Amino acid sequence: MFVVFAGGATAAPTPMPPQMGFNNWNSTHCRDEFNEAMIRGIADKFISLGLRDAGYRYVNIDDCWANWQRDKDGNLQPNPKRFPSGIKALADYIHQHDLKFGLYSSAGTSTCEPLKENRGFPGGLNHEKQDAATIASWDVDYLKYDNCNNQKVDAKQRYTAMAEALRSTGRPIFYSMCEWGENKPWLWGGKPPVDAGSWRTTGDISDTYASMLKNFKENVVLNQYATPGHYNDPDMLEVGNGGMTNTEYRTHFSLWSIMAAPLLIGTDLRTIKPDALEILLNKEVIAVDQDALGVQGKQVRDADGIHVIVKPLKDGSRAVAVFNETDTPHDVSVSATEIGLKSGGSYNARDLWAHSDAKGDGALKLSLPAHATAMYRISQL
Ligand code: GLA
Repeated sequence: MFVVFAGGATAAPTPMPPQMGFNNWNSTHCRDEFNEAMIRGIADKFISLGLRDAGYRYVNIDDCWANWQRDKDGNLQPNPKRFPSGIKALADYIHQHDLKFGLYSSAGTSTCEPLKENRGFPGGLNHEKQDAATIASWDVDYLKYDNCNNQKVDAKQRYTAMAEALRSTGRPIFYSMCEWGENKPWLWGGKPPVDAGSWRTTGDISDTYASMLKNFKENVVLNQYATPGHYNDPDMLEVGNGGMTNTEYRTHFSLWSIMAAPLLIGTDLRTIKPDALEILLNKEVIAVDQDALGVQGKQVRDADGIHVIVKPLKDGSRAVAVFNETDTPHDVSVSATEIGLKSGGSYNARDLWAHSDAKGDGALKLSLPAHATAMYRISQL
């Protein structure tokens, strides 16, 4: 997905960095608290907590927003208890905050939530044109398109049908494929005719260190398939939900950023604790994720539970994440050449969590606590 700025036929299109925002799923699932009052409250918090200023843009809603049936003309409609004012009114509210609004559906006959009376929430399969038109008429900016109840129809066919339907509306709608990596979407999701902005590479994350680690390991090896504007998505953030330590949440945020992953907050911002907010607002780490080169970091070491990932940045510097997966502290050395720097050079190593600088030859010597990640930006002096 590209954004073309008006004002000059010669201006090169600027690729979109990975999307940043919020999605309610990890914090609420389908509980009753997921409703329009909550989502409006989240939009308010984007402003008051400084999240919009830090780059978070999308306020997205997930499964269970819809009514059980389509209306008499076959159109999607919202659940009247959760969204009594309608989806367009919610989109308007979010746009008034200079934010963007995202919706959810599934490339199947119904979405993923368990069936009720043998019916799920209506999915988009074979309704692509009508649903895309509805979505555009509500001024939606983003569609997360899930994979449940797909009737075993070819995935590329299903995701292409919605991609084309979205494009034919004429409204720019970010297309986020949620295919869980089942049909290697990294080989086709980012290219025409699908041209999605991101595709899920994994199953669902949960709020545990083991789950986050599993998704990291599945996603980190796919770096060659991410291209500027088209990113691997190891699922949404759990930072702040309480199931991991602050060290583990810093690791989660560091790894997602060095992998140029979407940064979609999955905790209830109305009740977020200061420690979690500080992680989500680390602008130096966010800058690595959002870097204009749009390259996913490459894992240059995976040995004895130590992972070293290196991401080239637009200004010629390199971001480095060093992650201790193990349950015990480790001393770790990383050489300049392992980071891809020439030996004998002079470099500044900016510690992106301590916010401090150290000059040297580019090599790193670290003492890493269990489950911790150190993150640096290394630039030539
Ligand atoms: C699937 C997706 C999740 C979430 C749920 C909603 O499991 O992978 O991210 O959208 O459906 O039911």
